[in-house]
Amino acid sequence: MTDNTPKDLLSGHARLERNVTLLGAVALVVVAIGGIVEIAPLFWIDNTIEKVEGMRPYTPLEQAGRDIYVREGCYTCHSQMIRPFRDEVERYGHYSLAAESMYDHPFQWGSKRTGPDLARVGGRYSDAWHVQHLANPQSVVPESVMPQYGFLSETPLEFEYVGDHLTALSRVGVPYTDEQIEQARQDVLGQADPGTPAGDLATRYPGAQARDFDGNPDLISEMDALVAYLQVLGTMVDVDAAAAQEDLARETGR
Ligand code: HEC
Repeated sequence: MTDNTPKDLLSGHARLERNVTLLGAVALVVVAIGGIVEIAPLFWIDNTIEKVEGMRPYTPLEQAGRDIYVREGCYTCHSQMIRPFRDEVERYGHYSLAAESMYDHPFQWGSKRTGPDLARVGGRYSDAWHVQHLANPQSVVPESVMPQYGFLSETPLEFEYVGDHLTALSRVGVPYTDEQIEQARQDVLGQADPGTPAGDLATRYPGAQARDFDGNPDLISEMDALVAYLQVLGTMVDVDAAAAQEDLARETGR
């Protein structure tokens, strides 16, 4: 401030700085403007995630496998988010699209990886490889530090209330229909039990694969569910086609 600055021009600001209540009120207004600019648009758009072809909610069996994945803490060593960096894309495949985890509650993003990213592990190995690897990782990768999960093969899958689980997910926005919820128990059997016909499973969940995942047709085990889940990861969306669509939309401003 120089000597010839008109004093009254600054007096308003001086008053503001010396009055805590006034300063607080005015600061709140200024911060609120910033907040509204960021938040208000969200009330007028339906979705912040672009829809992509092929994405569907998990089948009840895959969802049960996902719950086991979370229960066992697989996420403490594995992420499911391929970042758009050359090294990641070369190792794991196309970078993850937002839509690919839109039905994940909770999502499995992250960058902390003791083991590899699993976002696109589906279809990379056979079911038998997964069962062998989960039971004894060191038998296929001798230097692996992954724990052994063989007990999953002997543990019967608890799926009495799987329909309620889908209801809970539908409350947080996963678009399960009443029919899917009603048929949930039957769909677990249809997908994992070779003795039960798959019925309309593929109509309710396009692309869902029905087979005996754990190699033991006599028991629907937690292993069945976990392997079904691992095998679907990253397989729902034709990523190259979806990413090309996204680029096109960006270029043409649609
Ligand atoms: C202590 C850390 C740790 C935990 C916990 C862990 N893993 Fe792993 N996982 C690894 C490591 C390290 C590797 C790489 C070596 C190997 O293949 O065993 C790996 C590899 C894998 C692979 C092979 C991936 C590929 O692309 O080759 C799969 C599938 C996998 N883990 C699934 C799981 C599942 C499912 C769980 C939970 C039931 C789990 N892991 C828990 C550390 C872990």
